[in-house]
Amino acid sequence: MSEQQGITFFEAMGGEEGIRRIVEAFYPKVQAHPLLGPLFPEDITPVMEKQRQFLTQFFGGPPLYSNQYGHPMMRARHLPFEITPARAAAWLGCMEKALEETGMAKELRQAVLQRLEGPAYHFVNS
Ligand code: HEM
Repeated sequence: MSEQQGITFFEAMGGEEGIRRIVEAFYPKVQAHPLLGPLFPEDITPVMEKQRQFLTQFFGGPPLYSNQYGHPMMRARHLPFEITPARAAAWLGCMEKALEETGMAKELRQAVLQRLEGPAYHFVNS
């Protein structure tokens, strides 16, 4: 269920289709969240597509995001938005629910969340 067992997170998470399902489960929760929803545009489709590309590469799949947009510089790309610790926690909470909804096994879910926790709090800027 991790690189230690010879496969990437990306593979354990169901590859491109698995990541797509996570992203599709995640953004409706983000949009409905009182702390997160107001930060995002009404048309969420382009954001979903970027996130699908980013998470694919973040978890060890093909570098879809960098191929299109160059170096991720994710903290810099989040600077225009007020990211508070509460918003980081909310983001992770939405992700936790999304992972659960896709039926991912608990052990993998926890490992995936752990990988996202560092970046989420690193993006805090307010
Ligand atoms: C900590 C809480 C977070 C908040 C409040 C947040 C919020 C946002 C917002 C408002 C945008 C811009 C949407 C737009 O295009 O108008 C965005 C873009 C994005 N976020 Fe986050 N985000 C958070 C954490 C994360 C994490 C942990 C990741 C991945 C590890 C991530 C990945 C992305 C990606 C890939 C984009 C698209 C970047 C681009 O424009 O190319 N975000 N986020």
